[in-house]
Amino acid sequence: MDVSPQKLLVTAALPYANGPLHVGHLAGAYIPADVYVRYQRLKGADVLFICGSDEHGVPITILADKEGVTPKEIVDRYHSMISESFRRIGLGFDNYSRTSLPLHHKISRDFFLTLNRKGYITEKSVQQYYCSTCGRFLPDRYIEGECPHCHRQGARGDQCEACGRWHEPEQLIDPKCKVCGSHPELKTTKHWYFRLSQFQKQLEDWQASKSDWKSNVREFCSGWFQEGLTDRPITRDIDWGVPVPLPDAGGKVLYVWFDAPIGYISSSVEWAEKQGRPERWRDYWCDSETRLIHFIGKDNIVFHAINWPATLMGHGDFILPSQIPANEFLNIEGEKLSTSRNWAIWVDEFLEVLPPDPLRYYLEANAPESKDADFVWKDFQAHNNSELADVLGNLVNRCLTFTEKNFESRVPPAGVLEDADTALLAAIAQFAKKISYALENFQVRRAVSEMMDLARTGNKYFNDSAPWKSLKTDRQRCGTILNTTLQLLASLAVVMEPFLPFSAEKLWRMLNGPGTHRDQRWISIPDLRLPDNHPLGKREILFEKIEDGIIEEQIAKLRS
Ligand code: MF3
Ligand code: ZN
Repeated sequence: MDVSPQKLLVTAALPYANGPLHVGHLAGAYIPADVYVRYQRLKGADVLFICGSDEHGVPITILADKEGVTPKEIVDRYHSMISESFRRIGLGFDNYSRTSLPLHHKISRDFFLTLNRKGYITEKSVQQYYCSTCGRFLPDRYIEGECPHCHRQGARGDQCEACGRWHEPEQLIDPKCKVCGSHPELKTTKHWYFRLSQFQKQLEDWQASKSDWKSNVREFCSGWFQEGLTDRPITRDIDWGVPVPLPDAGGKVLYVWFDAPIGYISSSVEWAEKQGRPERWRDYWCDSETRLIHFIGKDNIVFHAINWPATLMGHGDFILPSQIPANEFLNIEGEKLSTSRNWAIWVDEFLEVLPPDPLRYYLEANAPESKDADFVWKDFQAHNNSELADVLGNLVNRCLTFTEKNFESRVPPAGVLEDADTALLAAIAQFAKKISYALENFQVRRAVSEMMDLARTGNKYFNDSAPWKSLKTDRQRCGTILNTTLQLLASLAVVMEPFLPFSAEKLWRMLNGPGTHRDQRWISIPDLRLPDNHPLGKREILFEKIEDGIIEEQIAKLRS
């Protein structure tokens, strides 16, 4: 029987192009997505992994105003910084696009028009603040005033950051235009609303079948359902974004949270075009056999689990999400990450001084899966030095050095296996199974700790078998021990791929394995064998220890 591989369409939230990438982004959405995708590729799944920069919305225009530059300058700057950081940390997207592309504008317009034609969009007259000095209607975040709840100054039009409560702009006391400081007046204008309320029943029925969703996502949604879904405005008064594609739309653009998720589709279309097979994106988006998986941080739950599926339901041509693995947040040294206070660790700066895999490892071992996690520099150092270097790196180094010295860097013949040897080889299959199980359930923390335990098991075997003793008394036995350890290393190289792709590649090269480790299949990990007398490659250090000085500098930099 011909079983075609599982089709997976995996996305990671499109980051706003209003700043560089920080470790909080990586921990929440990107590393978990990348681990999952690399694992699925080894399993032989047919994966399309999609992302891109979210280049519209008020976060971009506010920054542009502040710097006195155009929004385009802002997004060009950060799009290239972000995509470079992704490349260097090893994010294996099939395509990394951007929402300012004409292609994305077109697809967003079509999406809006389809919903409009089907009657899911309504036009409403509303009262909105207008600044006569600036000559414009003010979006929420362009208004500032006294919070109606806690009475502190400087509350935004939609939310007070001091007390965290949400409100309507009209509730603000003594509102002011954020740009020029003058008092805006309420005037009538129109906006377009997506009729979200009509989808409540359909959404609830659909989610009732998602018993495998994480509890944070399910609980969040049931709260929204209980309150009752209301129609949502999907247009805004800024001049940066996708213009509302209607003749009388006078300067309004689509709300960023309307067009951004459509970016998952447009990035897929761009990918297909680059492949020279422009219709290929439909194999994923329009095939009910495809599993659509959105990796996000918890602040994105409502948009991915409610608004976006509803627009997909309304549109009708595309599949709905199968899974929405949402992670919690990453704090830094015990405090909430804050980009405005520069309490953050920036990926590009990190990679100036340290290699990518130790960062990946730390964020995997410490993933904010069921609760917020904390990035602590000393803890990062400890994970690197006592696990990557002392366990995994040490095993590789001892085994390869020993083989180089005593067996001319060739895999000694397997000879006759003893119980300890067969037990180690059997353990590989057990670990691969446990890691699979964890990854299928989006548990990266657990999976990576099993990977490290496999290396620990290897170290214990190597110690207990003591090949340095049999070297003099029983050279054949010594060869068997090395052979067995080398087989474990070959399997490890493949097991490491989802978590530590750069080091996995390096280890495979050191073993002089056939092709690349990515040509191997997850299912054949336990059967991987380097042949007797196989020549090994050049030995390198897999993981360097990180000195205290570097860590102290980083802590000082964070606090400066
Ligand atoms: N830019 C948003 C954020 O950083 C995420 C957008 S995800 C998408 O929170 F689905 F809209 F693309
Ligand atoms: Zn103004």
